[in-house]
Amino acid sequence: MGALDNQKILFCVSSGLAAYQLPELVVALNLQGAQVTVLVEPGGGEWVSLRLLAMHADQVATDASELSGDLNEFSARVLLVGEHPLADNSWLDQVIADATDRDYPVTLLLAGGEADEPVSRLRQSDWISIPAQASSGLPRFDAEAVIAALARAQSQPLLAGKRLLVTAGPTFEDIDPVRFIGNRSSGKMGFAVATAAWHAGAQVELITGPVARPSPQGVKLTRVRSARDMLTAVEAVIDQQDIYISSAAIADYRPLEAKKQKIKKGQREVNLELVANPDLLKWVTQRPEPPFCVGFAAETERVEEYARGKMASKNLQMIAANQVGAEAGGFESEHNQLHLFWSGGSKLLAWSSKAEQARQLIETVAERYAGWR
Ligand code: CTP
Repeated sequence: MGALDNQKILFCVSSGLAAYQLPELVVALNLQGAQVTVLVEPGGGEWVSLRLLAMHADQVATDASELSGDLNEFSARVLLVGEHPLADNSWLDQVIADATDRDYPVTLLLAGGEADEPVSRLRQSDWISIPAQASSGLPRFDAEAVIAALARAQSQPLLAGKRLLVTAGPTFEDIDPVRFIGNRSSGKMGFAVATAAWHAGAQVELITGPVARPSPQGVKLTRVRSARDMLTAVEAVIDQQDIYISSAAIADYRPLEAKKQKIKKGQREVNLELVANPDLLKWVTQRPEPPFCVGFAAETERVEEYARGKMASKNLQMIAANQVGAEAGGFESEHNQLHLFWSGGSKLLAWSSKAEQARQLIETVAERYAGWR
């Protein structure tokens, strides 16, 4: 399953340097399950091989009238505007007018053209626009950002207008300047949950412990190191949230003190004195008006019993449990199987990618949230 399964996308491109990246972007959309038709401005073929494009796209045309089928068949439109002004009476004008009239979702990729009248008109609407980044002298679009924008434009807006906070990743508790205690967590599931929530229309904040992951499109990201840093970051934003999903693998203990200098080897035995870290979820649910709270439970055995126990003791509305251990998913795995529990119900998701697990988790969260209170 891809984020754009069964989507038919019309990818319109104005002439200019930025068009060189088209084949790569089309392949990236294909890999997510989309079928792509490319409409390139006349002259666009000087910047990108139309023959190469034709190998990956459903259709390639330089005029809308060359396209077989109806323009209304497309579920979404992408408009890539290069650094040259749009040609007079360009068919791009027509595509823009058409999409505005009928309220089609359009994702704008901008490598220039901000001053063009039709483009500035588009930017005033709430269509998602993604600027190009300069990379070795060439404009480049982040394919992940394009996929995320299209997925959001086409997802059911189950959480439109809702504010949602996700915590993700491990926390690192320093022993000395070069060593720490941490949890095995890649942050993958939490980042996927934040992305799925954004697709569903939510305004999303993501607070993560140390992970090597770029910021997901559309999400406000804050990076922290220790459990106490994470608590400070959560405190700063929790009052504005409707929903809190805690997927972080927070270290339960930290060294009593972090040594200022590196501890040198010498003694045969070293004792490390540890103190308990705050429980962030408990802290949140004990506040006067907590948001709808969802916890995670990574267990190696007796999954339902422990998960339901945590849900009750932490006063959560929902918990997502997964079995971790040698053969199971969890941690660095690309795939996962979540078992969702709430008071009086449960749902076992089918084994699938973390992105798909996250999508279904958010669907269930939206359902439960709607009936809450
Ligand atoms: N959690 C938290 N603060 C902590 C520890 C955990 O907010 N200090 C949250 C996790 O993000 C997760 C849930 O509590 O959503 C359960 O975490 P887990 O580590 O499975 O449970 P613990 O309460 O730490 O219990 P145990 O380690 O004994 O299983």
